[in-house]
Amino acid sequence: MTELVTLERRGNLAIASLNRPDVLNALSPAVLGAIEARVAEVAADSSLRALVVTGEGRAFAAGADIGEFNKFDTQAALEFSRLGHRAFGALEALTIPTIAAVNGVALGGGCELALACDWIYASRKARFGQPEVKLGLIPGFGGTSRLVRRVGVAWAKELVLGGDPIDADTALRIGLANRVYEPEELMEKAIGSAESVAARGPIAVSEAKRLLEEGQDADVRVAHAMEQAAFATVFSSADREEGVRAFLEKRDAKFEGR
Ligand code: COA
Repeated sequence: MTELVTLERRGNLAIASLNRPDVLNALSPAVLGAIEARVAEVAADSSLRALVVTGEGRAFAAGADIGEFNKFDTQAALEFSRLGHRAFGALEALTIPTIAAVNGVALGGGCELALACDWIYASRKARFGQPEVKLGLIPGFGGTSRLVRRVGVAWAKELVLGGDPIDADTALRIGLANRVYEPEELMEKAIGSAESVAARGPIAVSEAKRLLEEGQDADVRVAHAMEQAAFATVFSSADREEGVRAFLEKRDAKFEGR
């Protein structure tokens, strides 16, 4: 079942790929379960420093598997939404940085999967959208809450209420995608970004990620206090000593994550 999502390790990086290209990586309950299982594998491997998420074939993911919908009653729909939230919530909660390499359409749950990653690199061929209203539905895997935080309420409303997709350059302009690349360059650039962040102090990176996430939902004074406490904790790490010593000795730091 986990082969619905492959996981490749390259040194201290992992690359997770949705692997149902014949249906544009549509997210069935089994695929969501496989994402959850792969995220748990990544979380359990303390040697990993960054994760790239992508899709096999011409799509990133064309959303929830519409073929499954006719089998659902209200209770099954609730469970499907809960499963998606659990899988994408676990992805978002990874302490290492995660990069979505959006190689084609990222529609519905596909866009929501990209939003659960820390940042998004897009192929020029990528398309982003939340088309659920065209099916008489709404986003069910965190789209309403994560999209508004990423792009602001005006664009989130146009995308979620209007249902029409946007191209990669528009995604770039509104801050949904951080960068846009030619299709053949995308993976190399996403992996390069992952390698670069993987070379930073891992405790510093994961604490900064936590503060950026939790700080968004906290009162700003609370967020400031959280930062002060975390600064002191990170300051006491062996990695901070190594990082400062390496700078003074004009060499690359060798961080050990302690
Ligand atoms: N669920 C299930 N199957 C899907 C799917 C989805 N979300 N999206 C695509 N597929 C399947 C198609 O049914 C087709 O299967 P088939 O070859 O057995 O007929 C295959 O993937 C290829 O898709 P196709 O529609 O032929 O490709 P296209 O290039 O013409 O169009 C899209 C691509 C993405 C525009 C179109 O597939 C689409 O609109 N998909 C649904 C997107 C959506 O509404 N997602 C939100 C769901 S809540």
